[in-house]
Amino acid sequence: MFNKIMKQFLLNKFPIFILIIIVLFTIIFVDSACNILPKVYEEKEKPENAEVEEIIYLPEPETVGEMSMEETIKKRRSVRSFNDKELNLEQISQILWAAQGITDEKGYRSVPSAGALYPLEVYVVKKDGVFHYIPEGHKMEIILEGDIRKKLKEICLGQQWVEDASVDIIITGVYKRTTIKYGDRGIRYVYLEAGTACQNILLQAVSLGLGAVPVGAFRDNQIQEILNLSKDETPLFVIPIGYKK
Ligand SMILES: Cc1cc2nc3c(=O)[nH]c(=O)nc-3n(C[C@H](O)[C@H](O)[C@H](O)COP(=O)(O)O)c2cc1C
Repeated sequence: MFNKIMKQFLLNKFPIFILIIIVLFTIIFVDSACNILPKVYEEKEKPENAEVEEIIYLPEPETVGEMSMEETIKKRRSVRSFNDKELNLEQISQILWAAQGITDEKGYRSVPSAGALYPLEVYVVKKDGVFHYIPEGHKMEIILEGDIRKKLKEICLGQQWVEDASVDIIITGVYKRTTIKYGDRGIRYVYLEAGTACQNILLQAVSLGLGAVPVGAFRDNQIQEILNLSKDETPLFVIPIGYKK
């Protein structure tokens, strides 16, 4: 009886079984090479000696503001002179949401993305450390403790506003998330997406009464080193943000 069932299984279902295994292995292989599947972020336990929270849950972003879109666009100007006042968590939350926040239940974001492949990553450089934005759950994880703004200024060819800003937002791109579908043209798409994310950040800063400037002059490899990024992640923008002096 058992032999008969096994024989039946081998004859009828085995090819399907093998096909499923091949598909699963292909997905796992492509994902390990290209990071295409959405990642489930494991909540790490806070180490006893950690001075800051490992994961920061950001305040809910506002979806109604006081400044009109037209006024915001009109007022945007690159600002390179900042006073010492720091941004609060509500303002940082709002800026990160504008950059890459999830804006609907299907997981689509504030900024369009070719094939909805989302190749951009966003980091916040603050006085107390460097944080990586996680759109799922609107939170950020600490990746470095301490103030690196002075070092970041040097990496940005001595641009003083990088050190003076309350926060510097860094946008990076992982090309292979997009080139896997679009080939070499995907690299162009990542640049275009970084531009739209940057503009969202700049306009959000204006509507919060803040100033910002897009910085494209920096040494890529040194940003990769200081943030411990993999070679697959290319820094595309540094955006100092603060209160205008
Ligand atoms: C791709 C790109 C790279 C830029 N890089 C820098 C930079 O490294 N440093 C800087 O101070 N401004 C930088 N800017 C800002 C321009 O200098 C600024 O947008 C231009 O002077 C126009 O002024 P506005 O932004 O006030 O309209 C950059 C702008 C873009 C779009």
